[in-house]
Amino acid sequence: MGKFEKVIIFYFSGTGNARMIASWFSKFAIENEVYCRIFDITSEGYIYLKEIDSDALIVFISPVHGFNYPKITLDFIRSFPKGNNSVVLMNTRAGMKVGKMVIPGLTGIAFFLSSSILKRKGYKTIGQIPFDMPSNWLSIHPALRKKAIEFIYEKNYHRVKKHFKILYSEETDFASNKDIIQDLLISPIALIYYLAGRYFLAKSYYASNKCNNCHLCIKQCPVQAIRLINARPFWSFKCESCMKCMNNCPSRAIEVAHGLWLVLIVLASTTGSFLFRDWLPNTWIVRFLFFNLIFFILLLVLYRVQHWILNNKLIAQIISLTSLTHYKCWGRYKANQNHQEQI
Ligand SMILES: Cc1cc2nc3c(=O)[nH]c(=O)nc-3n(C[C@H](O)[C@H](O)[C@H](O)COP(=O)(O)O)c2cc1C
Ligand code: SF4
Ligand code: SF4
Repeated sequence: MGKFEKVIIFYFSGTGNARMIASWFSKFAIENEVYCRIFDITSEGYIYLKEIDSDALIVFISPVHGFNYPKITLDFIRSFPKGNNSVVLMNTRAGMKVGKMVIPGLTGIAFFLSSSILKRKGYKTIGQIPFDMPSNWLSIHPALRKKAIEFIYEKNYHRVKKHFKILYSEETDFASNKDIIQDLLISPIALIYYLAGRYFLAKSYYASNKCNNCHLCIKQCPVQAIRLINARPFWSFKCESCMKCMNNCPSRAIEVAHGLWLVLIVLASTTGSFLFRDWLPNTWIVRFLFFNLIFFILLLVLYRVQHWILNNKLIAQIISLTSLTHYKCWGRYKANQNHQEQI
């Protein structure tokens, strides 16, 4: 008999990697006659909170966004009821294939923060395990090729199996400890991402001329971040940049406004240097605060203007041509949920 007989998994997933890890873990649990249930925190997670037995192992699985768990996962963990169960934290990160290796992503503060929140609620963290799945961050890089994706799945399938065995037969599994130095070093960036970066990314999506107003993106968004303004999807600051809408859009109409990024950077830095030259005290803190203020005011205004001018078909086409995500070679990414049967 192993260390636990019941596992309850709560997951959040934008493009399916975390869901895939959850289903593999559940497969190995069931093969070992361990009772296992999986809940998506965006739909059914809260319903079952009261039903968790005190002897069940609780597992949280979520992608890393900006070197931390995304806000939706952190909010779920913060609102989790008190208890004294053992908990395992897992994440999916940005894995990249180079030669015969998978280059790992970075967890940052995701595990430190969540295990300290859970500790205050009475839980005991007995494992922290990162999984380097295919990176879905298509705002900044093209989608991985099919062969690389398959290679990374294969590696992770065996890693899930290995870590299930460790957890099932031993006391703890802190696979994340080997990354502790880089995770600590990156922690200031995690804070900047949480305070500012995620808002910037939220305003980087738009629907191109290819949009046929099927509203699937609006219906499927886990945080209801997309509204319709002038019969066109409009992204609000609530967006978590989980990439679900962009990768699921049946018309491939959702693109990232790389052109707008360029205009924004040029305008913000010219306005900033004009103000700092003659008007404002030249200390780093004033510079930092004002630059961010200018940047966000411009972002808000330019995103609105872009949304408005997208109604003109010719201008919309020009905007699309400035987006790398518009081109076929950039691709899209969605985890292949049938993969476990194929292994
Ligand atoms: C906005 C955003 C931020 C990300 N930040 C990180 C990061 O800080 N570290 C990392 O390793 N991967 C990062 N990634 C990559 C995802 O965490 C990774 O691809 C994950 O496996 C996606 O899981 P999912 O398919 O369950 O959403 C980021 C992805 C996005 C979209
Ligand atoms: S899913 Fe795509 S086509 Fe449908 S409304 Fe959203 S952007 Fe338009
Ligand atoms: S708007 Fe798209 S990227 Fe943003 S949270 Fe919703 S589904 Fe995810």
